[in-house]
Amino acid sequence: MPRMSIERAAQLIRSGGLVAFPTETVYGLGADALQARAVARIFETKGRPHFNPLIVHVASMDEAEVLAAAFPPQARLLASRFWPGPLTIVVPKRDIVPDIVTAGLPNVALRVPSHPIALELLRLAATPIAAPSANRFGSVSPTTVEHVRQELGDRIDLIVDGGPCTTGLESTVISFTDEQPTILRFGGLAVEEIESILGPIHRFETSSTRPVAPGMLERHYAPRTPLLLVDRVAPPATGHRTGLLVLGECDYAEQYAAIEVLSRSGDLREAAANLFSALRRLDAAGLEKIIALRVPDEGLGRAINDRLRRASAPE
Ligand code: TXA
Ligand code: MG
Repeated sequence: MPRMSIERAAQLIRSGGLVAFPTETVYGLGADALQARAVARIFETKGRPHFNPLIVHVASMDEAEVLAAAFPPQARLLASRFWPGPLTIVVPKRDIVPDIVTAGLPNVALRVPSHPIALELLRLAATPIAAPSANRFGSVSPTTVEHVRQELGDRIDLIVDGGPCTTGLESTVISFTDEQPTILRFGGLAVEEIESILGPIHRFETSSTRPVAPGMLERHYAPRTPLLLVDRVAPPATGHRTGLLVLGECDYAEQYAAIEVLSRSGDLREAAANLFSALRRLDAAGLEKIIALRVPDEGLGRAINDRLRRASAPE
């Protein structure tokens, strides 16, 4: 086992870098789950057009509990039976988990992988690792280091070679955020195995090739305050408490009742990392309306505009 490169990988993770690493399911593209900017790099590097929520990898049940606000008995039962392994458990999150990791959802997807290198990396990095599959968006998940090199080789800081993945399918995702447990994605752990423990389980959708993430729903990101997406900023209408959400400096900003600047330097990565928090702050500011200025439609800007469009979609 390449012990030196695992130590190097752990250092990179801690310093906000991106590391591809083997898990038993597929190679993951990992970053420190507690550093929002590092997590933003995952989306940019994958070319992922949407902020799909990410799976957070942890070394143990104890570490999962640091991130979970609740861990229902049935979820605990599955974890004790199938962790480490290809099972991802969705539970309510604590505030410590940045919004960008969960795409603004109040829940976090957790998994203890069983690959010895993944476990060693988690222990050495001593932080939870957010990781989607280490491929460009839309292509097949990588199960060898060569797949990762072909797709992402020059875009990431390090690839840890762990040989071919033994499971070769992404983890099964089960949610415990509603009254009844729900399978969100079929994957590396057979549903029959889960049902042998919990009995019949509700299935959210039936395709493993098009997993439905709650974050993809129209209006999912909508604040309670009406949001209007615009191409240029005008002075606010007088007599109304209007908020403004912009990327960087802009005209008339001082005339608004509240303003959120996503990135002073106009850095779309930083803006993406700030977007959901900024929307929440504006929504909590007692405003009648939020004006959001479209950002440049490039890089993470596309995802930001997509979220703003969803946030502005009518009910
Ligand atoms: O096997 C795997 O799960 C691999 C390895 C690297 O662990 N990771 C993976 O990640 O497949 P990704 O990003 O391709 O799939 C993440 C999926 C989302 O599409 C969604 O279905 C579900 O996990 N998910 C993540 N966070 C969620 C949340 N907070 N609520 C509901 N579903 C969530
Ligand atoms: Mg994927």
